[in-house]
Amino acid sequence: MIAPDTNIVVLGRVGSGKTTWIQRVLIPALRKQRNGILVIFDSKDEYQVSAPDVSSAMDLNRVIYACKDRPPKIIRVPIPRPSMEVAEQFLAAAWAPVGEGSSDAEFYKPEFPVRVLIDDAPMYYMERGGADPDWLRTWYIMGRSAKRTLVTAAQRTQFIPKGILTMSEHLVAFKMANYDIKNYVARYHGESEANMVKSMRRYQYSFISDLLDEPLVFDPYVGPGITKRPTGVEL
Ligand SMILES: Nc1ncnc2c1ncn2[C@@H]1O[C@H](COP(=O)(O)OP(=O)(O)OP(=O)(O)O)[C@@H](O)[C@H]1O
Ligand SMILES: [Mg+2]
Repeated sequence: MIAPDTNIVVLGRVGSGKTTWIQRVLIPALRKQRNGILVIFDSKDEYQVSAPDVSSAMDLNRVIYACKDRPPKIIRVPIPRPSMEVAEQFLAAAWAPVGEGSSDAEFYKPEFPVRVLIDDAPMYYMERGGADPDWLRTWYIMGRSAKRTLVTAAQRTQFIPKGILTMSEHLVAFKMANYDIKNYVARYHGESEANMVKSMRRYQYSFISDLLDEPLVFDPYVGPGITKRPTGVEL
């Protein structure tokens, strides 16, 4: 179902289970796909991968396209100071070997699929108030045919660029703010989808997809790797 040419949006309010699900369910599933490479933008230092980290856009481009060995299946890019510029540089570097397909008259012919995971996407894109920067637009408009796709996760819809929201084939919805259920799920997907999301328990999630007639609801992930986070102080 999660084919190399489909984009995924993961929505859910603070602590609703997005990152845990991405780490424990989605990444293991993507790892099974042949040839595919997953690039993780990690701005909260939450992801662990076996390959060495990549530290610059040039480095990322080289690891994916210019290594003698096969590129690692999963590449982590730590981004301690997220900004739109940084995200755009890494997106450009993940798309194609430097120089190829860069002229306006030429298409890049990809040899293998690349997917970029942008958890907490608003950290990169809120300075644009949800507008679509160039390289991001390239990913979701041209990405399907080039097998360049995104997994975009966020707590709220406000600061995710519109194109990502409206052009992603799959929505994975955890418990969401009422505003987003009303203004995004109900409006773009339908009332029954909105009611389904509204009625979910904690850590449950709905899979709402262009490829399904009816949305599916899944029980919370159960298994290793659930970390306790501090619960805060009552004042
Ligand atoms: N399936 C689950 N079962 C039990 N506890 C869970 C589950 N998923 C997440 N949690 C708990 O909820 C906490 C928050 O989960 P997680 O970090 O995945 O949420 P998030 O939606 O990514 O939050 P944020 O928006 O802050 O990034 C985790 O520390 C974990 O303790
Ligand atoms: Mg998270």
